[in-house]
Amino acid sequence: SDEACQELINAARKQLGSRAVLLCHHYQRADVYQHADLTGDSLKLSRLASQTDAEYIVFCGVHFMAEVADMMTKPNQTAILPDLAAGCSMADMANLTKVERCWRELTAALGEDPANQVTPITYINSAADLKAFCGDRGGIVCTSSNAPVILDWALVRRPKILFFPDQHLGRWTGHQRGIPLDEMVVWDPDQPRGGLTQEQIRNAKILLWKGHCSVHQMFQPSHIAAFRAKHPEGKVISHPECSFEVCAASDYIGSTEYIVKIIKEAPAGTRWLVGTELNLVERLAREVAPEGKIVQFMSPTVCMCSTMQRIDPQHLAWTLENLVDGNVVNAIRVPEKETASARLAMERMLEVS
Ligand code: 13P
Ligand code: SF4
Repeated sequence: SDEACQELINAARKQLGSRAVLLCHHYQRADVYQHADLTGDSLKLSRLASQTDAEYIVFCGVHFMAEVADMMTKPNQTAILPDLAAGCSMADMANLTKVERCWRELTAALGEDPANQVTPITYINSAADLKAFCGDRGGIVCTSSNAPVILDWALVRRPKILFFPDQHLGRWTGHQRGIPLDEMVVWDPDQPRGGLTQEQIRNAKILLWKGHCSVHQMFQPSHIAAFRAKHPEGKVISHPECSFEVCAASDYIGSTEYIVKIIKEAPAGTRWLVGTELNLVERLAREVAPEGKIVQFMSPTVCMCSTMQRIDPQHLAWTLENLVDGNVVNAIRVPEKETASARLAMERMLEVS
């Protein structure tokens, strides 16, 4: 039963003590989140992972986050993902084969090594080999909370950017930095030369990979309009993975950690419409209700991160019980060579942000 499972988790945690630390993303379901030692957005969690001395980092999040934890920790520490099937559908929209093909096609279109003109930026929601690709080409990683400063960093180095895999974060960040929309073009990895002409490639400032988050694409400007009509005094806050139109219609835009902070610090009695994953929104709504704050979910349909949801109490209990018995299950280990290159791109990011 669920209750027995919770008891198993508590008992195993007691036995493991400080040997295991539980890092938890804000989108985790409540029955897992309650066991977290540390919580945060992707940037905060990557910093926390690099600072812990625990032997086991049990990562309640998705695959790329556990990879980052593995790469940011020492070789004697182990990152564990309680269910290996907890991926990120957006991260899967880019892969090394496609990005390398894109780079070759850019070579042809630009007439020289793209590294002379283009800085590759990968959103942290990507596989380790793509971070390594960026590390090897003077590129960098960004997260939803540092994308603007990372873009600035890149733009003083080379005139162009290849941004993957989230076109929405790339477009919104470019817009925040004053880049005209017509200088940001979408690169469709399933079409020859991204579906662009040589001229379009030469004139573009940012090439936006055609990827998106299936959760955040559900939010629509019409949801915001309906809220504003009913509650003119209400405020709207969204994650930058939402479409450009949703971001443009929102009052505040930022990472999950930023969303939590803004609403927790808001005056009592305020009303909020939130465009991000449901588990976070429901938790926040419960936490601020005693102060009379009202927090509403943006979409009329349920949008959860179904892959994050896979980390359930059953998988967590199984993982922890195995650790108690001396078996490490579901360890995430990024090959050494890949780690070295990917760390370059991540350390550049941590230095800038
Ligand atoms: P944050 O870094 O803002 O937590 O975002 C991670 C994510 O996957 C959002 O969908
Ligand atoms: Fe990936 Fe979207 Fe889930 Fe975030 S919410 S982990 S971007 S699928």
